[in-house]
Amino acid sequence: MTQNAKVIGTGGYLPEEIRTNEHISETVDTSDSWIFERTGIRNRRIAAEHETTSSMAEIAARQAIEMAGIEADEIDLIIVATGTPENVYPGTGCVLQHRLGIKKGVAFDIQAACSGSIFGLDMANNYIKSGAAKTVLVVGTEINSRITDWTDRGTCILFGDGAGAVLLQASDESGVLSTHIHSDGQYEDLLNCPNPQASTSDDTSGYISMKGNEVFKVAVNTLGRIVDETLAANNMQKSDIDWLVPHQANIRIIAATAKKLKMSMDHVVVTVEEQGNTSSASVLLAFNEAVRDGRIQRGQTVLLEAFGAGFTWGAALIRY
Ligand code: ACO
Repeated sequence: MTQNAKVIGTGGYLPEEIRTNEHISETVDTSDSWIFERTGIRNRRIAAEHETTSSMAEIAARQAIEMAGIEADEIDLIIVATGTPENVYPGTGCVLQHRLGIKKGVAFDIQAACSGSIFGLDMANNYIKSGAAKTVLVVGTEINSRITDWTDRGTCILFGDGAGAVLLQASDESGVLSTHIHSDGQYEDLLNCPNPQASTSDDTSGYISMKGNEVFKVAVNTLGRIVDETLAANNMQKSDIDWLVPHQANIRIIAATAKKLKMSMDHVVVTVEEQGNTSSASVLLAFNEAVRDGRIQRGQTVLLEAFGAGFTWGAALIRY
């Protein structure tokens, strides 16, 4: 019998250093009020020099394992979503597998920018439903501060560092109801970060480059469509959704998606003010926060969604 991918644990990690809007205003021509009004961001976390995507992933993963009350070696698949891996290879998933002391199963990375954790949930769900895996760890982990040009006011105000994790296990109980992922590679020019050692691009900076205003418009339209697609696939109404857990790029994008769902902001998990955009980590960090503080309760229906470079976008509907 097909089993559901039940959420059995969540975790999250944010580095200690808080970089405020005022701090950024000291080095680029911007202000706290401009950043907050246009993005909803006040602070973001910055990884310390000794931290890596895998060290942050390990902390988030261990929290999820502890919540689930399982042994780490019960995990038979690890999927790490990151755009800021510490190595070209080995993959961050393999490094994490070793850090967790797991010697069986398989670990690998996926690269879908800010949609990475949704793509990871999609894969985890399909592995569990097909019977190919039983216990799957999905982690989104990013050190965006190291690929940010801190002299570019169009991007340096937006990004932050962190890691989020979710553990899923095959179960007869409810779990992931559906996942929906998409990509359209024609938008590379609007948002990219070429690898200086491997790219033929003239841009050898290694920094994020973004036409923010154009990305914004596509993001709002696309996220509206993915909400419709997810509801239709599940034969659900907008009012059936208890919680929206969106990617945290910009409060105005989040508010537009909530409006589309006719949802009050009280039922939207928002972390962007304190964390900025942590790319593939953001949805899982927000999910973890709302599970741990008791907002998201067992039996509730939760819509997670994201949009990112590629462009990539997707949604996961979960009966928690
Ligand atoms: N401070 C002050 N002024 C600024 C700043 C700043 N930090 N940044 C831009 N401006 C100026 C511009 O120069 C422009 O000035 P002008 O009118 O004199 O030319 C003016 O503000 C308006 O600029 P816009 O780019 O149109 O501003 P917008 O309201 O679009 O806000 C922002 C910019 C915040 C970047 C927004 O477009 C955004 O959030 N975009 C989406 C980002 C996103 O979702 N990315 C996808 C995920 S990221 C990933 O996948 C890695």
